[in-house]
Amino acid sequence: MDARSVIASVRDGCARPDGLAWFARGLADGTVTDAQAGAFAMAVLLKGLGDEGRVALTRAMRDSGDRLRWDLPGPVVDKHSTGGVGDSISLLLAPALACCGVYVPMVSGRGLGHTGGTLDKLESIPGFTVDTGEPRLRALMREVGCAIVSASGRIAPADRRLYAIRDVTGTVESVDLITASILSKKLAAGLGALVLDVKVGSGAFLPALEQARTLARALVDTANGAGCRTSALVTDMDRPLARTAGNALEVAEVMDTLTGRAVTPRLVDLTVALGGEILALCGQTPDATQGAARIRAVLTDGRAVERFGRMVVAQGGPADFVDRYATLLRPAPVIRPVPAPAPGTIAAIDTRAVGEAVVHLGGGRLRGGDPVDPRVGFSDLAAPGDAVGPDRPLALVHAADPAGAEAAIAALQAAVRMGEAPAPVALVQERIA
Ligand code: URA
Repeated sequence: MDARSVIASVRDGCARPDGLAWFARGLADGTVTDAQAGAFAMAVLLKGLGDEGRVALTRAMRDSGDRLRWDLPGPVVDKHSTGGVGDSISLLLAPALACCGVYVPMVSGRGLGHTGGTLDKLESIPGFTVDTGEPRLRALMREVGCAIVSASGRIAPADRRLYAIRDVTGTVESVDLITASILSKKLAAGLGALVLDVKVGSGAFLPALEQARTLARALVDTANGAGCRTSALVTDMDRPLARTAGNALEVAEVMDTLTGRAVTPRLVDLTVALGGEILALCGQTPDATQGAARIRAVLTDGRAVERFGRMVVAQGGPADFVDRYATLLRPAPVIRPVPAPAPGTIAAIDTRAVGEAVVHLGGGRLRGGDPVDPRVGFSDLAAPGDAVGPDRPLALVHAADPAGAEAAIAALQAAVRMGEAPAPVALVQERIA
């Protein structure tokens, strides 16, 4: 077996499971070069692997490193999103679930393509560390009940490598690669139940509803087939999920919501829907509706924010973060309004373009290993249906310098289409179980 012949077999639509498994091992142990990994990813994206190949790649990537086993007095659960813009749900959901008697060793990712990454967001908190290693992760489960960490070098190392290469080679948008990427990490983390947030709309990697359904089905079938109780919600990403996009800005919005200072209802509603699913899947509540009620209660009565604060401290952040986040999160040096292109109503937003604008501001990576500027992005984002004009800009841009601000202003203006208010779109569009 060698990398060139496996790549050629994928290119020619005749990849075999043992070849894919060999390639996954080669990613982990360094036998496969970066160039070969990029070519492999592009061949998979263009040709697809089929059901059998997708399952083989997922399992081999899962087995490319350690598999965790837990001995905790409650179910071990997690959620994963296929990637969005302004989507900071993990920061609310992990502590909320931990308040409901389940354990959440959340293994998260960095920004991918135009989408934000949970780890990049959390690293905007001074001192917060996501590279904990397994012994510390186990301690965090006992001390706090939740943690948000990077996959250690030993969990699905094949994905760690391929993920970074896909991010910079235009090879994210593949049902097979997304499935193998997400599930290799999640299945290796030893979960009892998993809920997937599969995005649909202009900010999703796979924007069309039919593609999102196919991805949701592939994820749910592959995960359940591997013994992890899993369901998926297909949710709206035809607009940024919340009012901010950018690492520190999203953390501030989460804190405003958790503390009740300024609640973003869509953050709460999606957290409640996903959390309700999880609590039902792992048998903590008889159904998702009762699960949702429990999550809503802990989000609003202060328990979730208290747990978030404990998680921050346990992962190296400031003890007073919950009280002083507004001063502890560093602001960008340039903050300017983004004028509406014309007065009127927003008909649509190209959400991917908003995410790309954040990446170009420095909030994501254009090349592997680029540093991320936590301060930049957009706040006060207007949404489809909102009236904008001289008194209501499209957003505030937060930039490292005036040139960056100007480029982002032009990009956001170009991402917006003015016209009739669109028909309302449900945040949760479908459930796939
Ligand atoms: N999240 C992941 O972990 N991997 C993907 O490919 C997409 C979203």
